[in-house]
Parts: sequence; structure tokens; C-alpha cells
Amino acid sequence: MKLAFDHFDLIARWYDRLIGRPADDPLPQLLEAAAGQTILDVGGGTGRNTWAQSSLGARVVVCDTAVGMVRQVRAKGLPAVLSSATHLPFADDSADRILVVDAFHHFVQPSPALAQPRAAHELVRVLKPGGRLIIEEPDIARLPVQMIALMERLLFMGSRFWPPSDLRALFVAAGAQMLTETRLGFSVLFVFTKVRAKPAATRSR
Ligand SMILES: C[S@@+](CC[C@H](N)C(=O)[O-])C[C@H]1O[C@@H](n2cnc3c(N)ncnc32)[C@H](O)[C@@H]1O
Repeated sequence: MKLAFDHFDLIARWYDRLIGRPADDPLPQLLEAAAGQTILDVGGGTGRNTWAQSSLGARVVVCDTAVGMVRQVRAKGLPAVLSSATHLPFADDSADRILVVDAFHHFVQPSPALAQPRAAHELVRVLKPGGRLIIEEPDIARLPVQMIALMERLLFMGSRFWPPSDLRALFVAAGAQMLTETRLGFSVLFVFTKVRAKPAATRSR
């Protein structure tokens, strides 16, 4: 069911105050990019996970479908695009780092079965060969995450959570190569990369 409002629009103004990160947050180090390199924060909300990287010289762009979230990002002076992860408005092989934190289970329009494989494909398409794609998702095997899933169901959010092994397989099928898989509280954090496609062998005469 598609609702006439967006849950994240409603909470955008308070989001940064409501949500925190662990003290031993590995993201800043994983995101570290050379000056001028591009970091895409997809389903990036207020940009809370990436805005600090822009002061270190990276070109950060947040991509989100909630107008309220995009407004919050722009108020911080960061570029933001109002766009779905299923149709990223970026060229192939163009981002050095791509981050998706606590958002993949929300990529469900028009349906999870269409949107999530499509988003995985888009994220891998846009990643530069040798770049890093970081996916952090709550682990649905954990009881607190099951409670959150239930709450989101009652709120008609339409979320679809993937068991970590299925999520890993989805991205590998989309062309990514897994570098690491780490537990982070009730979540799993994957780091993927993309290997440059080999040029087609030249036909011998
Ligand atoms: C739980 S919030 C996480 C935001 C941010 N990544 C963070 O960690 O603070 C999920 C975000 O995904 C966004 N979202 C939902 N569906 C989306 C889609 N198809 N494409 C891009 N963003 C989407 C929502 O608007 C929301 O801002």
C-alpha cells in the first residue's frame, strides 16, 4: 500500500536529534576519501553520516526520496538530490564511495521485489571499480530488529528486511565483490568493491 505521506518527511526536522551512532563508529575511516573524490550517501536522510567528510575535501552528495530530508541536507550546505536508489542520476563508475545506512529495507517502491534488486544493481553500476560500497543494515535475526520491523509494519512503512546472507548474495549477484562483513550492534556492515570488467578478448584471425 502506498501512503499519501512520507514518514521520513514528518520526522526530518528532528532526525539528527533522535538518532545516534556508536562511539566506536567505523564509518569515518571506511569513508575516508582523497580530496576531490566523490561520496554518495544513498537513502542518506539528513546526511548525518557523511557531512563531516565534505569538510575533509570530499565531494559529498546525498540522495533521498523524502523532500524534508533533502531540505535538511541543503540547510547544512551539502548538495542533495531528490531521487530514488532505484534510478540513480549518476554515471556508471562515477563514485569512489557509496554509503547506504539503515535505508536498504526502505527501498520498497513500487514493490520490494522490484525495488531492492534494482537498487542493488544501481549502486554497483555507479560505484567506481576499486571503490567502496558500504551497506549497513539491521539484522532481522535479532529480536530488537524484529520489534522495529513490527513497529514499521504497524506504521504501514512497507519495509522489507533481508537476512544478512541473502543481502550479501544480492549484491554479489549485482556484480559487487565483498571485502568485509562486520557486526555493529544489531546491524551488519558490509564493505563491497567492484572489479573492473576485463576488456573483451580480441578475436584472433
Ligand atoms: C532510516 S532513514 C536512514 C537515513 C540515513 N542513512 C541515516 O543513517 O541517518 C532511511 C532513509 O531512506 C530514504 N529512502 C526511502 N526510500 C528511498 C529510496 N527508494 N531511495 C532513496 N532513499 C530512500 C528515506 O527517505 C530515509 O531518509
